[in-house]
Amino acid sequence: MRRKLAAGNWKMNGTGSALEELETLSNTHKTAEVEILICPPATLLALAAASTQGSAVAIGGQDCHQQVSGAHTGDISADMFADAGARAVILGHSERRTDHAETSELVAAKTTAAWAAGLTAIVCLGETLQERESGETLKVIGKQLARSLPDGATAANTVIAYEPVWAIGTGKVPSLDQIAQVHGFLRASLAERFGTGMAEATALLYGGSVKASNAKDIFALEDVDGALVGGASLKAADFSPIIRALEAS
Ligand code: PGA
Repeated sequence: MRRKLAAGNWKMNGTGSALEELETLSNTHKTAEVEILICPPATLLALAAASTQGSAVAIGGQDCHQQVSGAHTGDISADMFADAGARAVILGHSERRTDHAETSELVAAKTTAAWAAGLTAIVCLGETLQERESGETLKVIGKQLARSLPDGATAANTVIAYEPVWAIGTGKVPSLDQIAQVHGFLRASLAERFGTGMAEATALLYGGSVKASNAKDIFALEDVDGALVGGASLKAADFSPIIRALEAS
């Protein structure tokens, strides 16, 4: 059976008081039938890892540097995230690709670094509105997947998140057919490169304006194995119903 994952991306949100939300979440989900991951800002990571111990909630990082250590002011390595208690790291998010001009080649280097540190790499891909409207969605995503994913990808060390750029933080969500098409394409592309066994076992997340009200329908799609959630992961009261919907799917 494929792993199912409800992942929360807090982005640049949350100071100390946000840990109360995390405590509520971990008290609500002491055990779970799916994997639960919260990726807080790096400043909260160690505290978050400590406060979720003994619950089903795991902690992850948001982006890492491709080197293990060195003269890179302001950066954090995958090893450091692992040392602070992270189990996974979000890589290649469109906000990194846009704000920090990250290329897929750089994302691949970061993915290798994440694996070396024992972290699951959550590799994000997605088309812009312009690319969708000009019919280039699958071409763009195929290219991002091929270039962002190094050869060593397995179902254990990698999760793919399809996040249309135009759906992130906008309240706009692709149609279920559009999501199904991209996820089917991702599964087939993984099978072509890594074999059917790997493709069938790898979790494919959808991300972009997921909330309690649309989660059930999205999770009912055959090739959707969970979600990467931004805004609706900040409050336990919003994220818990999404976790429940995944458990019920
Ligand atoms: P959103 O963000 O759920 O706020 O749209 C998703 C993401 O960027 O991972």
